[in-house]
Amino acid sequence: MAVPAGEVILTGDRPTGPLHLGHYAGSLRSRLALQAANSMTLLVADLQALTDNAGRQLDVPQNVLEVVADYLAIGIDPSRTVIALQSAIPELAELTIHYLNLVTVARLERNPTVREEIELRGFRRDIPAGFLAYPVSQAADITAFRATLVPVGSDQLPMIEQANEIARRLAHIAGAPVLPECRALLSGTPRLPGVDGRKASKSLGNAIALGARPEEIRRAVQAMYTDPDHLRVSDPGKVEGNVVFAYLDAFDPDRQEVGELKARYRRGGLGDSALKHRLDGVLQALIEPIRGRREEAIADPAGLMEIIRDGTERSREVAAGVLADVRAVFRLPTLKRNPERRG
Ligand code: TRP
Repeated sequence: MAVPAGEVILTGDRPTGPLHLGHYAGSLRSRLALQAANSMTLLVADLQALTDNAGRQLDVPQNVLEVVADYLAIGIDPSRTVIALQSAIPELAELTIHYLNLVTVARLERNPTVREEIELRGFRRDIPAGFLAYPVSQAADITAFRATLVPVGSDQLPMIEQANEIARRLAHIAGAPVLPECRALLSGTPRLPGVDGRKASKSLGNAIALGARPEEIRRAVQAMYTDPDHLRVSDPGKVEGNVVFAYLDAFDPDRQEVGELKARYRRGGLGDSALKHRLDGVLQALIEPIRGRREEAIADPAGLMEIIRDGTERSREVAAGVLADVRAVFRLPTLKRNPERRG
């Protein structure tokens, strides 16, 4: 894939805890290649993290620090890439309010990703309105930065489509384009499975964190699901659905060697323990420097907060400009500030 240049890039993560190798393979890694030649903002989407936890309290302050430490650990450079906190940008909330008038409930219910989540949770008419509407809030995130390119996983394509629909609706009302439309940038690597072969997720405890200790990495690799019918070393084994190969595909720099290992595994004569030994080496080498930088970052919470504060302030300036344009479309009055009033 040719690395894009000159784009306005916006993407985000829900701060629900430390990021893991699934995030790394799916999107974090590609952001590194992007930050050199593009204007990029990473939004820590703490409000969105609340939408599917209606009425609950998350440890947002700690989770935000974890995510920012992860960014720095993988090599995100805050002097190039803006790191911003969603809940500290009130312009996003107001944009969401305006966009909600441009979207029907029927359209929201058709969003395939939201539909899947509704089904998973068994919501009917008891669905929290904020949860149903989170794609609208995400459209605010995307448009507030005038993003042209949004790196995401394929589950996020419906969000981008909805953001573009909103941009077109607004252009139709205004009689001229107000917001740019954006494209998705898909990672190209298939979704990394969890250690047990299910979807990698923190709540299932089947993911390897970016800050994992050597022992944790070793244990996770030991526990990886392979091919249950591959009993003896000499038996032919299955590569498809084999988690060890999924990780080797994602992280082993020696593609040719991985190809040969697959052939040997299929033929028979390659044991799981030799395979896991190789993967352990690959992951230890990958994670060691990340863990080091992560520990350094997390030891300086004030420094992390300063990075977020600076990025959030810069983001608010951009978002305020977009908000003014959107307010103008709806002919909302702007009140002048009374200069006599203090505070
Ligand atoms: N929905 C995204 C996720 O769950 C996170 C996100 C929030 C996002 N706002 C965004 C992604 C804006 C891209 C653009 O991973």
